[in-house]
Amino acid sequence: MSSRPSTSQKKLLLRALQGERLPRPPIWLMRQAGRYLPEYRAVRAKANGFLELCYTPELAAEVTLQPLRRYALDAAILFADLPLVADALGQKLDYREGEGPVLEPIRSSGELQRLSQVRLHERLAPVYETVGLLARRLPPEVTLIGFAGAPWTLATYMVEGGGSADHAFTKRWAFGDPDGFQQLIDLLVEAISAYLSRQVEAGAEAVQLFDSWAGVLPEPAFRRWCIEPVTAIVKHLRTKHPQLPIIGFPRGAGLLYAGYAGATGVDAVSLDSTVPLGWATTAVQCDGCVQGNLDPQMLVVGGRAMATETARILRQLAGGPHIFNLGHGIVPQTPPEHVAALVEQVRTWQA
Ligand code: CP3
Repeated sequence: MSSRPSTSQKKLLLRALQGERLPRPPIWLMRQAGRYLPEYRAVRAKANGFLELCYTPELAAEVTLQPLRRYALDAAILFADLPLVADALGQKLDYREGEGPVLEPIRSSGELQRLSQVRLHERLAPVYETVGLLARRLPPEVTLIGFAGAPWTLATYMVEGGGSADHAFTKRWAFGDPDGFQQLIDLLVEAISAYLSRQVEAGAEAVQLFDSWAGVLPEPAFRRWCIEPVTAIVKHLRTKHPQLPIIGFPRGAGLLYAGYAGATGVDAVSLDSTVPLGWATTAVQCDGCVQGNLDPQMLVVGGRAMATETARILRQLAGGPHIFNLGHGIVPQTPPEHVAALVEQVRTWQA
């Protein structure tokens, strides 16, 4: 059941996702919950590890709401993490202090038998519960965004066993044994579609697919491993939830940002900070809403430099539907007051 269809139409973020050009763009920030906030660090210290934080609905809901208490943001994004789906498929996941996710790598189709969808929803049930808590607790003007990693990006973590500089194992598998790698991608398309669908049934009003490593592939591979799987997920989701707004984030896609929305069927495209906005207005915004794209390091710098850059982005994207955001997630070194100044500037801006 998608929640509150009549009132949700009035939310600024949903209006932008429907393609409306608004007097000021709605704003939310990737990784708006997290280590730059002292109140996040306090909850994180109480939880028995990061995974437990993600899988404890009361704590996950609490950290999701923390940035909303400080700033007048237009959306909350579910607090969870991208590799949880791998964990729910049976691949052992661990977080070591300051290192990010660590997984037992899967590097050939023979190893795919270690994965199974049988317990997917059982394992992810606490995440759906978090979404339910948030749907009840959020102020009526705030949109609840669910999310998942896109298949290619999730696959890089599963194959490399964590973050990686060159994605060498994943590329060698995808380039050298495309049929075998396709089996992994097909499994992920199914699992991610089911995961997002459950988030929507629990109360998420829009979803974002993070393809954080889309930018490392040559064009044919980008089409096969980024465009095709995301297209399949969008199709699955739309059969169950025809009106669901979907944001795609093919980070680093460069010229391949052009045509991404048309090919995949997403309603909005999140632009990384390197995308030239003069180009994006004609090549991307022509197809619908764009999101972005302040450099997260500008948010660390703050002051005049941040204000000038923010004004430029607001001006350049004002001709069409726009959601103000960063080009990638907030970094832990960000002073919380800089976030307050940014939100204030965007909210008081007039086209
Ligand atoms: O506020 C939000 O945006 C919601 C929560 C959220 C987290 N991760 C929390 C998190 C979201 C949407 C993500 C997405 C995510 N996770 C992505 C896609 C976006 C991107 O950054 O490209 C990726 C690639 C991951 C995988 C991941 N999780 C990495 C690489 C790391 C380590 C790097 C880092 O920033 O710590 C994580 C850990 C993580 N995910 C933390 C948080 C708050 C920090 C963990 C901690 O508190 O110790």
